Amino acid sequence: MLGNFSYCNPTKLYFGKDAIDSLSEELAKYGDNIAFLYGGGSIKKNGVYDAITKVLRAQNKNVIEISGVMPNPTLDKLYEGIEACRAHKTDFLLAAGGGSVCDYAKMISVSMHCEEDPWDKYFVRFEEPDCKLVPVGCVLTMVGTGSEMNSSAVITNTKEKLKMGHVFVDENIMPKFSILNPEYTFTLPHYQMVSGIYDIFSHICEQYFSGEDDNTTDYICEGLMRSLIHASRIANKDSQDYEARSNIMWTATWALNTLLKKGKDTDWMVHSLGQAAGAVTDAAHGMTLSAVSMPYYKYILEDGLHKFARFAKTVWDVNGEGKTEKEIASEGLDAMEDWMNELGLVMNLSELGATWDMIDDMVKGTRVRGSYRILTADEIRKIFETSMTYTS
Ligand code: NZQ
Ligand code: ZN
Repeated sequence: MLGNFSYCNPTKLYFGKDAIDSLSEELAKYGDNIAFLYGGGSIKKNGVYDAITKVLRAQNKNVIEISGVMPNPTLDKLYEGIEACRAHKTDFLLAAGGGSVCDYAKMISVSMHCEEDPWDKYFVRFEEPDCKLVPVGCVLTMVGTGSEMNSSAVITNTKEKLKMGHVFVDENIMPKFSILNPEYTFTLPHYQMVSGIYDIFSHICEQYFSGEDDNTTDYICEGLMRSLIHASRIANKDSQDYEARSNIMWTATWALNTLLKKGKDTDWMVHSLGQAAGAVTDAAHGMTLSAVSMPYYKYILEDGLHKFARFAKTVWDVNGEGKTEKEIASEGLDAMEDWMNELGLVMNLSELGATWDMIDDMVKGTRVRGSYRILTADEIRKIFETSMTYTS
């Protein structure tokens, strides 16, 4: 293990069917002015809204609700939230939803007491906050991003056609607590469920397909991937299987709570390509990743050949006997692709509404250059072009 690092993750997790019982005790630690943030209304249909408001009422909190936080939250929506929270003098931000709502809460947290424009400060100059932070808590309803236990936030600037993420260094930006009840995810449509599953898988791949040193993290990645593949196959057939859904939820959290990146290089190329595609299509995050993954991984296969062969054998049980490393590695990607098709993931960008005239903006919006292979802008364009019409 070559890297030097420090590790601290202060988010307290409550996991399981009774996890919401801890909300009361957690909220009692903070001030009375609570901003309750949620999305387009799924929480009103599945009982999550009622469960939360019951606790807020019992504690007599002074609550404002900020609803309509859209998937891939926009800068305009952020400005609206900051203004509302300033007027309300919010003491605590309670997010109920998926990555979009959790990220949104973190962005208000770092912006409410900051005089500068949050886009310029955090997503152009990538500065750390130097103002008071508003604490965040999360009730998770959609599994995938890991936002419930990390310090990242992603925003879409529709005018600039850019979707940018900031991985904040300050761990105080991580949620103070997150409530993880796998049953809350049962109402997710299949499309969102598998989109989230692929997001998890991609988070692990981004941290796995990089570096050459023998590293404990890679072994953890392989275990998480095997568990996810197993549970996803069960959930794909029966979305109400608690055991599978709970394993998926737990894997998602560990896939992106900063553990896996410790002490090793990371890649994040699939996310960079996917985010650039997301900026112009507003498609579901996980599907933007699935649509570019095969073209990208096939393109860099030879650059990371040894790791791709290891992936084939340890994650997909490819039998390497009598085969070249390249054959083994390719079989691994084939097995991964079969699994992606089995789940019903979107495998090309056209299906997400991307058109050829969007490619210039996508190339411009791709800010990362890779790990095993440092890509040129022309190579990035080529990968987008292949992703437009890719078929298995
Ligand atoms: O808005 P509502 O009505 O709640 O519907 C949502 C939304 O339409 C629905 N949903 C959520 N829970 C549900 C449900 N529907 C039925 N039952 C439930 N229990 O699902 C839709 C998608 O929700 P969203 O929060 O947008 O999905 P996700 O969790 O994938 O978050 C995506 C955002 O997170 C960012 C993405 O870029 C994107 O902006 N990411 C954040 C990361 C982080 N903080 O570390 C890392 C990720 O790589 C990612 O970039
Ligand atoms: Zn992701």
